[in-house]
Amino acid sequence: MATSIRALVILAALAVLGAVAAAAAALDTSPVAFDAGFAPLFGGDNLVRSPDGRSVQLKLDRYTGSGFVSKSAYRHGFFSASIKLPEGHTAGVVVAFYLSNGDEYPANHDEVDVELLGNRRGHGWRLQTNLYGNGSTGRGREERYLLPSPQSPQPQQTHKYGIAWTPNAVIFYLDSVPIREVVRVPAMGGDFPSKPMSVYATIWDGSAWATDGGRHKVDYAHAPFTAVFSDLVLAGGHGGVEVLTAEAAVMTPAKRAAMRRFRGRHLTYTACRDRVRYKISAGVLPECVDDDGDEGLGFHEWGEVAKKAGWGRSPAARLRSSLELEQFLN
Ligand SMILES: *[C@@H]1O[C@H](CO)[C@@H](O)[C@H](O)[C@H]1NC(C)=O
Repeated sequence: MATSIRALVILAALAVLGAVAAAAAALDTSPVAFDAGFAPLFGGDNLVRSPDGRSVQLKLDRYTGSGFVSKSAYRHGFFSASIKLPEGHTAGVVVAFYLSNGDEYPANHDEVDVELLGNRRGHGWRLQTNLYGNGSTGRGREERYLLPSPQSPQPQQTHKYGIAWTPNAVIFYLDSVPIREVVRVPAMGGDFPSKPMSVYATIWDGSAWATDGGRHKVDYAHAPFTAVFSDLVLAGGHGGVEVLTAEAAVMTPAKRAAMRRFRGRHLTYTACRDRVRYKISAGVLPECVDDDGDEGLGFHEWGEVAKKAGWGRSPAARLRSSLELEQFLN
């Protein structure tokens, strides 16, 4: 009798443990309060928490930008933020949400970038994604996209930007749509981010490059520029299976189709198609080789999209093309 009761107790305990293990195996992607997950990084009073502690304003004025950083570093996971962009004339302004370990590994850092590039009044923001691994800063993997609904002078909408990072891939999200999937291939070597990274959000002056290659700089007559970050998700894993099976990390046929649609409409530049920058006869960057579909058809050899503007430009015109294409699309 005593033995069977003990067995029952043990069975009950195992059931409870099993439930706990099952719960722990799912990635918790609920938003965190700012102070629970993050700390101010720079900018002093230009970082303003909301009264409920769930969102934060980052301001750029003529004295400083501002930023915050996660309290922990993570190896793989899903990270996202809803970002309301500054309105009006925002040329030269950069709003960034990214993963990095540059402080800890200055010589061989990893980085995954979501960068929003401001524009002149009435012109749409650009979204740029990029990643580096183990100090691969000589091999930028930029892509740029037009944000949806660039009609002017509509106020900028709020969008959610997400990064799923697993041992096998990095997937970038705009709202619920995956917009870029970088699948790790062996030939990438150390270029795929692999060491723990912290999560950063910043606003800063990118006058030198952000808008039309630096032609339009930050005009502080329009300052302060204010970005609002909310719904901060810090679902960092530690290399466990929960990251690989997280919804954001699993690509379905429907998600791939949505990604292709988005890229067909919004992608304006990809390093994958830039054979001027990457003079590798075989296939530019190794992870680009297996791209499916006909995405490559619309691109000139310097990686800028041609099909949206319908221009057949000669390589001799390429130095001017990027600037003019962006203006044309505006
Ligand atoms: C990363 O960089 C370090 C330092 O340069 C080097 O020793 C190491 O082999 C690299 N790792 C990979 C996977 O390339």
